[in-house]
Amino acid sequence: MLRPLVAGNWKMHLTVEEGLQLLQVYRARLEPLAARVDIVVLPPAVTLWPAAAVLRGSPIQLGAQNTGWEDEGPFTGEISPGMLAGWCPYVLIGHSERRQLFHEPDQWINLKLRAAVRHGLKPILAVGETLEEHDAGQTDRVVTGQVTAALDGSHRDWAESLSVAYEPVWAIGTGRAATPEYANGVMARIRRLLREEFASAAAGIRVLYGGSVTAENAADLMAQPEIDGALVGGASLKPDAFTAIVAAAAATASPV
Ligand code: PGA
Repeated sequence: MLRPLVAGNWKMHLTVEEGLQLLQVYRARLEPLAARVDIVVLPPAVTLWPAAAVLRGSPIQLGAQNTGWEDEGPFTGEISPGMLAGWCPYVLIGHSERRQLFHEPDQWINLKLRAAVRHGLKPILAVGETLEEHDAGQTDRVVTGQVTAALDGSHRDWAESLSVAYEPVWAIGTGRAATPEYANGVMARIRRLLREEFASAAAGIRVLYGGSVTAENAADLMAQPEIDGALVGGASLKPDAFTAIVAAAAATASPV
């Protein structure tokens, strides 16, 4: 199996000071697990730079929750992938909150992915259907559309840095995670799409599950063959819960 990846998306939580304190806790708690799992934290943009100093020498890696796609220019409020390159290796692109609350269309997500790859970042592309789409039996159509649009114009070498997070919108922050079997089924579909896009190189792309991942359900989710890790929101702010989730991923990993 692929080396698992667990990413903690803090969203718009914690001041800089609170965030740096949490990172100190995570260094102590998570570093012993990092031999088997890639651990990524995604704090708010304002915390990224001091977080890099706190994580210097640590196997815990940093990621941004979002990026613009231009290198620089009059784009008030944006940060560019070039500003992250070299010290903040991961970037989350296309989270459902960006898509829904900030009206980011597929075309922007594609531009962000292209820019992230061009700057040597490791994008985590998030996709997933809403409750209405789910209930209308549209999951396959929606997820296929999102993946295909995001990867428009991609090259084979994108596969080296890309991960995909399947996050059903109805499971995010609701305490109602998808069943492991349901998630596995949609993720198998995503894996087929990745194979169509990247051929054999797709085998190295990690597909994560996100949406109400907890200490309690992590092991069952991680046991599914298509699930290579987790994108964790609420539980990534709680040291006990996040440590348990990373430990669940470590338990499924091949020995190093
Ligand atoms: P949640 O969020 O774990 O709080 O459901 C997941 C996410 O939005 O990435």
